[in-house]
Amino acid sequence: MRFFSDNAAAACPEALAAVAAANRIDAAYDGDAYSRRLDGAFSELFGTEVAALWVATGTAANSLGLAALCPPHGAILCHRDSHIQNDECGAPEFYTHGAKLMLAEGIGAKLASETVKTLLGAIRDDVHQVQPAALSITNATEYGLVYTPAETSALGELCRERGLGFHVDGARFANAVASLGCSPADLSWKAGVDALSFGFVKNGGLSAEALIFFRPELAEATRYRRKRGGHLLSKGRYLAAQILAMLEREVWLRNARAANEAATRLAEAAGSDRLLLPVQVNELFVRVTPDEAAALRAQGFDFYDWGPGEARVVTSWDSDPADVDALAAAIRAL
Ligand SMILES: Cc1ncc(COP(=O)(O)O)c(C=O)c1O
Repeated sequence: MRFFSDNAAAACPEALAAVAAANRIDAAYDGDAYSRRLDGAFSELFGTEVAALWVATGTAANSLGLAALCPPHGAILCHRDSHIQNDECGAPEFYTHGAKLMLAEGIGAKLASETVKTLLGAIRDDVHQVQPAALSITNATEYGLVYTPAETSALGELCRERGLGFHVDGARFANAVASLGCSPADLSWKAGVDALSFGFVKNGGLSAEALIFFRPELAEATRYRRKRGGHLLSKGRYLAAQILAMLEREVWLRNARAANEAATRLAEAAGSDRLLLPVQVNELFVRVTPDEAAALRAQGFDFYDWGPGEARVVTSWDSDPADVDALAAAIRAL
């Protein structure tokens, strides 16, 4: 019974059917009918004109988005525990041709605007210091916390005042929107976001993420960077088809809600004493002794050892309700 990662989730039937439906001759790269519909489909979803590019990984979406916002000599402000800092093997630095990541602290991998202001205040405005060019946050965070529209707007306002580009790693953007019950626009362009990595893979996609630019002109150079970086797939239509299928009838939202609800059931079973952080999306961070972790594993539950005495449990759109109930009962029985 798998609760290790939402990356391990299956692809949903709609995404798979879309791949099958796209399986006929069409234009190559992004000249096909599916890829050409992406700008329009996302513009409709966000209620403003956007440019949308498919890529195969979240790392590529983040790195290309950041390269559009930060020059090689600039800095990207982000959380110390962010995916771009810890889990992308230097890809943001690689794609930006050497931009510096400047790290800030915050509970649950979340940045407060005051923290960002303090970090900015410590940077001397002279040629010897790397100057900030962009801010990147993750919503929902790597610890499963959400930024509300107001929190995102506060950061967006700060970016506007200081002339910074604003990027959101939205590998779990769908989960954040589902959790908050707000519109995708409230968590993005209306809050001052310039570029969003909109995740589909964790949420039932097969192999597609979308990089959304709320300043469409940023997409121009990105199309060349995507090719140069080896991410212009010749059969891009299979990626675009998955994304379009998940936008239709709000499959993306339905899937995210299912994942979040499963996590909420587990959180109720764990109780606040065991939880390291509130459960807002589809991840739980649970205090368990080594013996308790071993007992859960012996019952067939698979999860991630987060740190000493800490387990990360992740639900996904396809978490089997019977497995969720079984894990809830096993946690209650610890
Ligand atoms: C917060 C976050 N950002 C981005 C990604 C995308 O990673 P990948 O390049 O493996 O698709 C992940 C995947 O685990 C993630 O958790």
